[in-house]
Amino acid sequence: MSRDVKGTYKAQSSRKEEVKGTYKAQSAAASRRKTSDADTGAGTHGHRRPTTRMVPVPSESIVPERDVDKSPILECRHLGIDFGGLRAVDDFNLMIGRTEIAGLIGPNGAGKTTVFNLLTKVYAPTRGTIMLDGVDTAGMDTPKVSQAGIARTFQNIRLFDSLTVEDNVRIGLHNQIKCGMWSGMLRLPRHWVSEKEFHDRSLELLDVFHMADNANDIAGSLPYGAQRRLEIVRALATNPKLLLLDEPAAGMNPSETSELMDNIVRIRDMFNIAILLIEHDMDLVMGICEGIAVLNFGKIIAKGTPHDIQNNPQVIEAYLGKQDEGE
Ligand SMILES: Nc1ncnc2c1ncn2[C@@H]1O[C@H](COP(=O)(O)OP(=O)(O)O)[C@@H](O)[C@H]1O
Ligand SMILES: [Mg+2]
Repeated sequence: MSRDVKGTYKAQSSRKEEVKGTYKAQSAAASRRKTSDADTGAGTHGHRRPTTRMVPVPSESIVPERDVDKSPILECRHLGIDFGGLRAVDDFNLMIGRTEIAGLIGPNGAGKTTVFNLLTKVYAPTRGTIMLDGVDTAGMDTPKVSQAGIARTFQNIRLFDSLTVEDNVRIGLHNQIKCGMWSGMLRLPRHWVSEKEFHDRSLELLDVFHMADNANDIAGSLPYGAQRRLEIVRALATNPKLLLLDEPAAGMNPSETSELMDNIVRIRDMFNIAILLIEHDMDLVMGICEGIAVLNFGKIIAKGTPHDIQNNPQVIEAYLGKQDEGE
């Protein structure tokens, strides 16, 4: 299987190099960055810049070289949705490597959150295919997609404000740990075993953000930054293969954002998962994303490494150039 995939990628890669002739140049640029970043041990903002070489694969996407021999965690083909006459997302093609940190950027109203709503089946796509870990998600609803391995956080925090921090995490865990209804109701020993499992696992997950001491706090009483972190912990509790973060740095101050960047990379490394994030903070996006897709009026106008994106005239015109004007 992996040999087939590898073979396909290699064949496609060399074909693309012949046709376009640009991939070699991009790879060479990526290698140069790899060397210079490795030398300094940090990127522009003191953060660990991804040192991965990105390589082309089918769907005109690029994935980190370390993921290229494995099947992609996500592949969208010609994905689209219409709201009445509005083509909110159209011909959206994207592939994400198994351990990639990918970014989805673009102006407000471009369709970024709608892409997350399509991936999590809040909306049924009007067109196209979403493959999660090689499985077509057509016909799956939101809970099914969650069980299949996609977890998300929301642009506006969604927690159970009046429940404790631990209970919020347990809601995520419910997805994963099975506890028979009857043994639970009758309080049979098996119920206590799962209770302990739930409790221990909740604290373990909270500890990722050093929040185990807050387990009994009421979620709504936490400071804003801690609520955002709790939302990520709750998403991780569902044991995802792909974590979707919708503007995780929104409302955070620069030092919280900087800590968040480190945490996102740490989560990817600890859980060995892929992360797709929507974000307007370009220090964060350019600092930790390996591959970036730019959406404008529902269509992808560019895909590439942070370097490619920052130097793409179309992206600068549509989005990056307007960042300073208070986007
Ligand atoms: N449920 C909906 N019904 C109608 N239009 C919607 C709906 N959801 C989003 N839209 C429209 O789709 C476009 C993309 O919205 P959105 O995905 O939220 O953008 P972004 O997250 O990039 O800021 C906007 O024009 C928005 O008004
Ligand atoms: Mg949005």
